[in-house]
Amino acid sequence: MRIVPTLVVWYHPNPQNRGVSLKLHYYGHSAFQIESEKVAILVDPFISDNPVAEGIIKVESLHPDVILVTHAHGDHWGDTPEIAASNGSLVIANYEITQFLEAKHGYTKTQSMNTGGSLTFNWGKITQTWARHSSSFPDGTYGGNPGGFMLEIEGKCIYAMGDTSTFSEMSWLGTDFSIDYALIPIGDCFTMGPKESLRAAKMLNAKVLIPVHYNTFPAIQVDVDEWVKMMRDHDQDTLVLNPGAIIDL
Ligand code: NI
Ligand code: MN
Repeated sequence: MRIVPTLVVWYHPNPQNRGVSLKLHYYGHSAFQIESEKVAILVDPFISDNPVAEGIIKVESLHPDVILVTHAHGDHWGDTPEIAASNGSLVIANYEITQFLEAKHGYTKTQSMNTGGSLTFNWGKITQTWARHSSSFPDGTYGGNPGGFMLEIEGKCIYAMGDTSTFSEMSWLGTDFSIDYALIPIGDCFTMGPKESLRAAKMLNAKVLIPVHYNTFPAIQVDVDEWVKMMRDHDQDTLVLNPGAIIDL
């Protein structure tokens, strides 16, 4: 007896109520939030001095359960202390960043990690990845090693690369993880530029590349249409998000 069609109907009665809803809100630069039914995860919350977030989102409108900070530079650390304090968010970052938050801001709801380590929560799994960059706080305090985060949540794998140039172990990440979305910096000057991002993309094998860390400031102006075309010529799928965009993953 064949009952498969009935099962299929029952399994997806309504896309709105499937229980696997996963959204990404992009706030410009490298700031974004992932939302599942269980958790809101804010990454690199550079909001108040972010020129492209203006009119898109306000610090007081953000209510994340978790904040991930890839490194201590101001355009990533951003409004972390204020958002964490007003929401009681769990801040996950390297040890130097969580220590700074405790010592300078008296905020102790933190979880430190380090390169290559992973943690499993009831809403998913995080692995901290390497980034070839630097990391210091706006006041000059050492910010530990820079990094990125591989997020495995609701059956999807999202790679927040942080600020980085291309590095050869990206091929390991491409082998070890089945990456659905890579948020890849393309702005050049402080990170990889458009051309180098192609080398990274080939190693990562992500299904979709979302460009970040470009066109926020004069130093990181990029022709994103040219980038999309170059990627398409090499069979790489891209998704360009305007600040303020909300997408279903
Ligand atoms: Ni940086
Ligand atoms: Mn940056």
